[in-house]
Amino acid sequence: MSLQSTRKMLDIEYIRNEFPITEKCFQVYGSTEPRRLIYLDHGASTHPCSTVLNKYIDFIKNYYSNVHRGKHYLSMISTELFDRVYETIFSYIHATRDDNAIVLTANTTSALDMTAWLMKDHEGLTLVSLMEHHSNDLPHRHRSEVKHFGVNPDGTLDMNDLEHKLKTNKVKLVAVTGASNVTGFITDIHKIAELAHNHGARILVDAAQLLAHKEIDVLPNNAPGHIDFLAAAGHKAYAPFGSAFLFGPRDVLDTVQPYVPGGGTVMYVSEHDYIYASSPDRHQGGTPNIAGAIALAESLNFLSAAGLENIRTHEVELTSYALQRLKEVPDIRLLGDIPAENRLGVITFNIGDISNGLVADILNHEAAIATRNGRFCAHPYVSYLLGRNDSEDIITRLRSGEKFDIGGAVRISFGIFNTESEVDDVVENLKMIAERRWKANYDDTSAYFDCKGVQLSSS
Ligand SMILES: Cc1ncc(COP(=O)(O)O)c(C=O)c1O
Repeated sequence: MSLQSTRKMLDIEYIRNEFPITEKCFQVYGSTEPRRLIYLDHGASTHPCSTVLNKYIDFIKNYYSNVHRGKHYLSMISTELFDRVYETIFSYIHATRDDNAIVLTANTTSALDMTAWLMKDHEGLTLVSLMEHHSNDLPHRHRSEVKHFGVNPDGTLDMNDLEHKLKTNKVKLVAVTGASNVTGFITDIHKIAELAHNHGARILVDAAQLLAHKEIDVLPNNAPGHIDFLAAAGHKAYAPFGSAFLFGPRDVLDTVQPYVPGGGTVMYVSEHDYIYASSPDRHQGGTPNIAGAIALAESLNFLSAAGLENIRTHEVELTSYALQRLKEVPDIRLLGDIPAENRLGVITFNIGDISNGLVADILNHEAAIATRNGRFCAHPYVSYLLGRNDSEDIITRLRSGEKFDIGGAVRISFGIFNTESEVDDVVENLKMIAERRWKANYDDTSAYFDCKGVQLSSS
């Protein structure tokens, strides 16, 4: 068995064996036998595979030591492993070190906020798509003037609106996701980059969803479609929490004050003066998440070995199959209308008038199917796709202290180890829900499985 079979397809059995979480079972309501977890929340976070976990544990057990500050063996080995992380990320996104740097951060949000900070004194406004996760919207609102460009009813980006706003405004930065965490829609980042560059703006791509699912090529700095800034995190790419990065140009990174000044960011400090280091150290104040960064690099190596093309082929096949089979569920309404080839394996839906929270609850408590529900930190996009025009009303009611369900949808998001038989299971359970055949009484919280009673053991 190998990571990749000779037919240039993923060896799913091998892959599943790599992920201990695929063995996890839960006792569900109405069944005497524990049910195997069907994990469909990869859009939120992915589990580390054994290769990555082993690397992580090996580092902590055998080489745990701070970097760049010691002449002893542990510190030298730790420094060597840590410095290689940058190389791995550069190579994974097809970037060169010439005129660029990679800054390690804690999560995608801090990498996106760092970009907003780096660009805050540049002239012009930031154009943000209405599809963005709040993490690629709110930081810009805090640091600059922001205008939004729109989306179409099918969930795709309104490129005409983008072009129009680029023509009629002085824009410094276009902030756009590489793929939506709501509909999975894959944006044409190189076309957007060209448009932005033609109008004197730079582009920031939020690659949080893209990183583990599709090959990323930031292209050379002088290419029209070059990606200036790119942010992503390991916890959505089979690495543990707490490790992410920002790729960006040195002419911006090295001319702005450190994002967090402090230890590690300077060349020299006197009582009255200081000289800051160049990037990445300049923006990495304090001890970085060394173990997390090493694990992130290991996960990128794991994905490269599996082959991004193979991963993508598997995901497109699985998503097509799911889109086809979901049509059998009575009263299902998908958010967006995007074919599998143009989206990641992210599908968001509602069933009749059953609340998204109840659907997610039933899937969990009666079938051990892990989904996510609500508005996925993308309120403007979800409101638009739901056809709701009640944002102002919601804000007024929330400001007045009223507590209520703001509505939303249920999301399933595939990862590298999901299978068609898991999709079959989801479809059967959604049919059961649509036909209102669930077993527990969800008004009576004691009737269903209570998470507080879960034994947090290693079994
Ligand atoms: C598209 C997108 N951007 C940004 C984020 C925020 O990522 P993080 O939790 O790493 O800060 C998420 C998280 O779900 C996301 O889906």
